[in-house]
Amino acid sequence: PRVAVIVVAAGSGTRLGGRAPKAFVGLDAHTILRHALRGVFAAPAAQVVVVAPAGREGDALTEALETAGDRRDLVSIATGGSTRQESVQAGLHAVWPDVEIVLVHDAARALTPPAVFERVIGAIEAGAAGAIPVLPVIDTIKRVDGPAIVAAVDRAELAAAQTPQGFRRDVLDAAYAAADEDFTDDAAVVASAGHPVAAVAGDPLAFKITTPADLERARGLVAPVAP
Ligand code: CTP
Ligand code: MG
Repeated sequence: PRVAVIVVAAGSGTRLGGRAPKAFVGLDAHTILRHALRGVFAAPAAQVVVVAPAGREGDALTEALETAGDRRDLVSIATGGSTRQESVQAGLHAVWPDVEIVLVHDAARALTPPAVFERVIGAIEAGAAGAIPVLPVIDTIKRVDGPAIVAAVDRAELAAAQTPQGFRRDVLDAAYAAADEDFTDDAAVVASAGHPVAAVAGDPLAFKITTPADLERARGLVAPVAP
């Protein structure tokens, strides 16, 4: 089945507090978006849709074409909206008719290894309507009410969700068309439409660059090791 990857890169990066939209902040000589696209183009994608901030479509296209190598024909650009959900919706409208599996990936998860894409695609090829990478929760988790600890929560029942999140194309299209509230990820949109979503193993390197500390961590990971 043909796979499209929608890379949502239209956020402003408020919590990062940089001068440029987050996707265009540098990790080394290259931007967060460029690093994210390297992982995407290592996956078996038939189309890559980059959802850019309004006004930055040309920059996003340049980044994508420079990463694509001889696969330039795969690249499409869409303009993002004011929420992640609107940006995903804009990306979905640009997906080619013959695509059967759609992955949605945060550009901010710039260092996601290609194996994570392969696990998500594999789960859908094996019959799942949707699949998302997850990591076990490491911290002990409490339910709180203001300053009071209300209950301990068994962390074995919990997992932290990452991207790329993958779905059968028909399922994702219908779920987004029906979404009537704000959901925090694509799996929640699809679950609200009544479809089961499977979990596959995530990867610590798929962490989302959200805060300045995350940016420092990512920069350390891509920096050359001193001789
Ligand atoms: N995103 C998007 N369009 C939006 C909001 C977010 O495409 N309107 C994308 C971001 O570019 C990012 C991913 O969704 O790759 C996850 O969002 P987040 O980490 O929250 O990024 P920002 O919204 O840019 O950051 P902040 O919430 O701190 O402003
Ligand atoms: Mg945000």
